[in-house]
Amino acid sequence: MDSNEARSIADAELERGLGSFAAADSIDELEAAKTAILGRKSRLSDVQRSIGSVSREERGELGKRVNEVFADLRSAYDARRTELELATGAEILDADAVDVTLPGRRPRPGSLHPLTLVEQRMVQIFTRMGYRVAEGPEVEDEWHNFEALNIPADHPARTLKDSLYVDVDALLLRTETSAVQIRTMQSQEPPVYIVAPGRVYRREAHDATHSSVFHQLEGLAVDEGITFADLKGTLHAFAKEMFGSDVRVRMKPDYFPFVEPGCDLAVSCFVCGGTGCSVCGNGWLELLGAGMVHPKVLENGGYDSERYTGFAFGIGIERVAMLLYGVNDLRLFTEGDVRFLQQFEGAV
Ligand code: DAH
Repeated sequence: MDSNEARSIADAELERGLGSFAAADSIDELEAAKTAILGRKSRLSDVQRSIGSVSREERGELGKRVNEVFADLRSAYDARRTELELATGAEILDADAVDVTLPGRRPRPGSLHPLTLVEQRMVQIFTRMGYRVAEGPEVEDEWHNFEALNIPADHPARTLKDSLYVDVDALLLRTETSAVQIRTMQSQEPPVYIVAPGRVYRREAHDATHSSVFHQLEGLAVDEGITFADLKGTLHAFAKEMFGSDVRVRMKPDYFPFVEPGCDLAVSCFVCGGTGCSVCGNGWLELLGAGMVHPKVLENGGYDSERYTGFAFGIGIERVAMLLYGVNDLRLFTEGDVRFLQQFEGAV
């Protein structure tokens, strides 16, 4: 290209460049415009490269003009870049601004789990009657969990199908809190009045009415002269405290290896008052197993079964919580859904 042509291209590119830098609305657009106008493949670069081939007299003038065009365009680019950077910064500040006039968000207080609430209330009813709280290990040996409770090796409850064994010989996750009866008797002389709340484990499905982990409250009273009437009176008092003073109790014979005689206890339905409804069916809610401690169990605990008698009971804590709060699916207790749990804030 000759000197005139080069000059007019340079002038045109100056106009074009100033226009497109000013029109760029973002840093990306501006950078694209810069590459198009000032980059190595731009028309201005072609002009620059042509300087060497024009005549010596014209070369100086043209070089000067091209340098001026480059300088003007660079400063226009720099100015626009600064403007766009400031605008972006302001946008970010705007977006991040804290409105100090908004009302604050209060942290929600946590609350006790419904099973904890029910367990605490059950324990409190018994401690007011003079019972102490006892504990035992969740990993139990077969002797305390079975043999000592008069559950022989060929009892169906002892098959691998029902129990969860750990990798150590003859150790398992306790299948009932009844094992605490034995440990308590071994560690103290009669009289004994204890309740033992805790987790128990069984090989179970996981559905609305089954769970492989659940909770029981075991009770044990051993003293001189304890009779079945004491058992009935104690559980009746418990049921009235737990479900209301109108509640009636019904005891029916039942079999548990560690008691003789054994029974289960039902309370009159506190939803319908005992006339029959969708919760109870026939007016009664079965609640727990109980009985007079088997003489062999007393002996296994180290007590003289000629001198002492006692009663024991085992209550499912989930069962009581489901009845009390109208919960129809066991899984709700373990899923941790806040919408379920927050309904128990302040409930006792
Ligand atoms: N251990 C029994 C169970 O898990 C409940 C039970 C029944 C406990 C009778 C007792 C009892 O102490 O006397 O089903």
